[in-house]
Amino acid sequence: MTILGIETSCDDTSCAVVAVDKTGGTVLSNVVSSQIKTHKKYGGIVPELAARHHLENINFVLTEALKVAKSKKQEIDAVTVTEGPGLIGSLLVGTTTAQAISSIMKIPIAGINHIEGHIFANFLRTSEHRNPNLSRWDFGTSITPPFMAMIVSGGHTDLILVKNWGNYKILGRTRDDAVGEVFDKIAKFLGLGYPGGPIIDKLAKKGNYKKINFPRPYMPDSWDFSFSGLKTAVINYVREHPDTKKSGRLYDLCASFQQSCADVLVKKTVLACKKFNIKKIALGGGVSANSLLRSDFIKKCDEESIKLFMPAPIFCTDNAAMIASAGYFKLKKRGICGAINPSANLELSNW
Ligand code: KG4
Ligand code: ZN
Repeated sequence: MTILGIETSCDDTSCAVVAVDKTGGTVLSNVVSSQIKTHKKYGGIVPELAARHHLENINFVLTEALKVAKSKKQEIDAVTVTEGPGLIGSLLVGTTTAQAISSIMKIPIAGINHIEGHIFANFLRTSEHRNPNLSRWDFGTSITPPFMAMIVSGGHTDLILVKNWGNYKILGRTRDDAVGEVFDKIAKFLGLGYPGGPIIDKLAKKGNYKKINFPRPYMPDSWDFSFSGLKTAVINYVREHPDTKKSGRLYDLCASFQQSCADVLVKKTVLACKKFNIKKIALGGGVSANSLLRSDFIKKCDEESIKLFMPAPIFCTDNAAMIASAGYFKLKKRGICGAINPSANLELSNW
C-alpha cells in the first residue's frame, strides 16, 4: 500500500510517500521544510507565523514529495495526516490539505496522533534495530507489540506501554517541561541558539559529565517525569558561575546536564520493562536523536538483554514518513477511519 503522509503539527511542513506492508515501510520520499530560520530570532516557535508558513509551503512540499517518489497522484492508495496534538493553526493547514486530497482522489484518509507517529517511525525500514543476542545492528527488522515506547520531544516525555497495534497504556509523562523543551530553554538562556538539543549535544562531546553533579529527577514512586527542577539547577549554576559561557565549563555543563537527562530516561524505561515483563524498547521524538541518549540506551539494553529499536536520526525529529507508517497500521486495523478532528490537545487513544 502506498501512503501519502502529511505532518504540520508544529514548525515543520512535511509530506512523504511511503510504501508500507506489515513488515514495515520503505520511504520513497520525505520532504521536510523547516521554519527554524523564522523562529530562531524569537528563541522559540511563534504559532501565528508557523501557521502562515505552513500555508505558504504546503503545495511546494507536496509536489516535491510526489515528484521525488515519482508517484503519479493516482498511485497513492491513502492519505494520512497528523490531527493533533500541536498548534491548532498549523494542524488545520495539514488536515484541510489531506481532506481535499482524499475527497478529490476518492482515497481513504486517516488522522494520526503525532505521538503515535513518533512510535511508528520505528517501522520505517531505515530504522536501526539492536539485537543484544546477535550483537549487531539490523536495518529494517520490524518491532512487534508488546513493547515499551519512550517518546522524547519538544512537547512530550511519554512512557507508553504498547500492548498491541493501536492499543496504548500511558504509564508516565512529564509533569512540567518536556525534556526537549528543557534543552531548548537552557540553550536560549545561554544564548546558544535554537533548537537547543542538537547544539547542546555537539558541545557536550567536548565536555566531562562528571564535572558538575546536577540532580537526577527519578521520581521513584511514579512513572512520571519532571525536568523543570533540573532546568532551574542548570540556570542557577550559570548564575553562580558567570564565566561558564566563556570557559571549557560550558562543555562540562552541557555534558553534565545531558547525562542527568539520559540517566533518568534510560533508568525509568528499563525499570518499566522489568515491571511489565517487556523485552523490547522503541525510542522516538527529536531528543531520541541525541547521541548520548542513544549510546546509553544501547549499553543498558545490551546489559539487560532488551531489544532496542530507534529510528534513524532524520526520522526522530518531525517528519511525514512516520505519519504514513502509522496510517498504514491504523487503516489496516480500522478500515475506513472517518472524520478528521484536528485538536491541539488530542489524547492518545486506542484504535
Ligand atoms: O519531535 P520533534 O522534532 O518535535 C516535537 O514533537 O516537539 O522534537 C524537537 C525537539 C527539540 O526540543 C529539539 O531541541 C530536540 O527535539 N532535539 C534534540 C536533538 N535533536 C533535536 N535534543 C537533544 N539532542 C539532539 N540531538
Ligand atoms: Zn514531534
